[in-house]
Parts: sequence; C-alpha cells; structure tokens
Amino acid sequence: MKIGLIYYSGTGNTRIVAESLKEKLESKGHTAVIDEITIEGSTPAQAGKFELTHIPDPCSYDAVIFGAPVQAFNLNPVMKAYLEKLPAMDNLKAAVFITKQLPLLWTGGTGSVAQVKSALEARGAKVIGTEIVVWSGKKREQSIRQCLESIGNLFNG
Ligand SMILES: Cc1cc2nc3c(=O)[nH]c(=O)nc-3n(C[C@H](O)[C@H](O)[C@H](O)COP(=O)(O)O)c2cc1C
Repeated sequence: MKIGLIYYSGTGNTRIVAESLKEKLESKGHTAVIDEITIEGSTPAQAGKFELTHIPDPCSYDAVIFGAPVQAFNLNPVMKAYLEKLPAMDNLKAAVFITKQLPLLWTGGTGSVAQVKSALEARGAKVIGTEIVVWSGKKREQSIRQCLESIGNLFNG
C-alpha cells in the first residue's frame, strides 16, 4: 500500500515518530511517504498567526496516518487549521497519533485524538487506530514502541 504520513511538528518530536513509522511500514513492504504540513509564521503556532504553506492531499494515498502534537491542553492549532481544509475521503483508511509531554493522557491527549478522529470521520475516512505518544522521561521509548507496533501493523495489502 502507498501510505501517507501527514503530520505537523513544531519542535521535531512528531516528525521523529513519523519517520520511525515510515521505516516500520517500509519493512513490511509498504511505500510510505512523509508529507509534512508546513506553515509560515512564528512558533509555537498561534491560531490566526500563521499560514499553511503545504497542505497535503490525503486522497493521493491508499491509507493515511495523521500525527500532531498537543499544545496547551488542546490539539495543536496547525493541525486544527489543516483539518478544516480536508477534502472528502471516501472510506480512506486512516490512523491517528498524538505526541505530548505530560504523562497523564487527559492533559490534552485524549481530546486531541478525539478531535482529529471526528474531523476525519466527518469527511468520510475510516479511522482504524489511534495512539498517544508520551514524550516525557521513562515513558518515551515504551510509548514510541507501542505506537510503532500498533499503528505500524494496521495496514495490509
Ligand atoms: C506551547 C506548547 C504547549 C504545550 N502544551 C502541552 C500540553 O498542554 N500537554 C502536553 O502533554 N504537552 C504539551 N506540550 C508538549 C508537546 O505536546 C510535546 O513536546 C510534543 O511532542 C511536541 O511535538 P513536536 O515536537 O512535534 O512539536 C506543549 C508544547 C508547547 C511548545
């Protein structure tokens, strides 16, 4: 399958997970394409103070993995802005991962997953897996491994 890795990363953590997922997917015989959402404006991005300079098209893939960080207990505003531009995605298979610093998932993680998932589903995508990667301290390696195992093994064909 040709799988797109569509994500936004402000400080690089989400990009690291996306690149690791690419390796994992390629080891399973998929073609995995890094397709980063980019902006012009100051970081951390603030709503209304940036412009999207690359808006990936999910429909150019057989399946898509969406990734974004938590910002201020909420989904990062760049991913929010991108979700508003999504085209119709008739039954496109999708997965979502969110990266965050704080170990407690309800400090923005579960809400961000829910927000991305519902935006994708509203445009017709079929979300078949979600993960939250916790970046702080001891949990990081385990958390990344869990994400690679779960999302990296979702797609067949
Ligand atoms: C301005 C700002 C606000 C953040 N707010 C939260 C937060 O509310 N909860 C949390 O768990 N992590 C928070 N983080 C940490 C990021 O979510 C975490 O480091 C994430 O992995 C960053 O991904 P990136 O490097 O791809 O941008 C915040 C980071 C920044 C820069």
